[in-house]
Amino acid sequence: MDSFTDVPRIKEGSDIGQQQDTVVTEEEWLKKWATRNIGFHKEQGHPIFKKYLDVILNGKSGCRIFFPLCGKAVEMKWLADMGHSVIGVEFSECALKEFFAEQNLSYSEEPIPGISGAKVFKSASGSISLYCCSIHDLSSTIVGKFDGIWDRGSLVAINPCDREHYANLMFSVMERSCCYLLVTVLYDANKHKGPPFYVPDSQIKSLFGKFCEIKYLEKVDVFSDSHKAWGLDYFLEVIYLLTLKSVP
Ligand SMILES: C[S@@+](CC[C@H](N)C(=O)[O-])C[C@H]1O[C@@H](n2cnc3c(N)ncnc32)[C@H](O)[C@@H]1O
Repeated sequence: MDSFTDVPRIKEGSDIGQQQDTVVTEEEWLKKWATRNIGFHKEQGHPIFKKYLDVILNGKSGCRIFFPLCGKAVEMKWLADMGHSVIGVEFSECALKEFFAEQNLSYSEEPIPGISGAKVFKSASGSISLYCCSIHDLSSTIVGKFDGIWDRGSLVAINPCDREHYANLMFSVMERSCCYLLVTVLYDANKHKGPPFYVPDSQIKSLFGKFCEIKYLEKVDVFSDSHKAWGLDYFLEVIYLLTLKSVP
């Protein structure tokens, strides 16, 4: 099963319950960081990242890899150690400072030209640049284009009303041969308000299908006690590879 149309299997549907109108504000995200409500953070990295690293890098060295809504993802350090450049965006300054402290990296702060009052944190080696602002303030003029994108906890954390803008930004920052690994989540959206939000396959197609080939890779059952506590009885991660459609 490797094509987009093969995806629908387990309780897949387009019913996103009440989620379409849900908005999580910047203040609410900052509060999650301040109160350590950050169960999404994976101290040991994400197993899917390890499994599909070669797919993201696509045989290239010295890649520029984008981490939208990066939090303090440890995979950013792994890639920098492999000789790649990492660019992340995250509105929690606390998350970014924790990243540098926990990874034993010194950094400098600079203003972001074009985004009033915002800062970019750069590792001393220059291989990691983390933009402290809303992703909706970024553009390809500011961050350039990427060879790879790791989107885990990102599209699914974007407010549903902002998905179209987000998808268009992703399109604008993809190099021609960019490999965009997208991880979404699948659960009964009538039982949990999110985030993470449920993004149906049909919406992945409507958001990205205009400009990307969408390859479904796999679904992984990651149901845990915390999902049970949310009132859910199943929870899966769905992995896609997005690549730009070739221009005629
Ligand atoms: C679910 S977490 C995922 C973090 C990271 N991708 C990971 O895998 O650990 C989502 C993060 O996005 C940040 N965030 C949410 N909306 C954002 C936005 N519009 N712009 C920048 N950061 C945002 C939150 O502060 C939070 O740290």
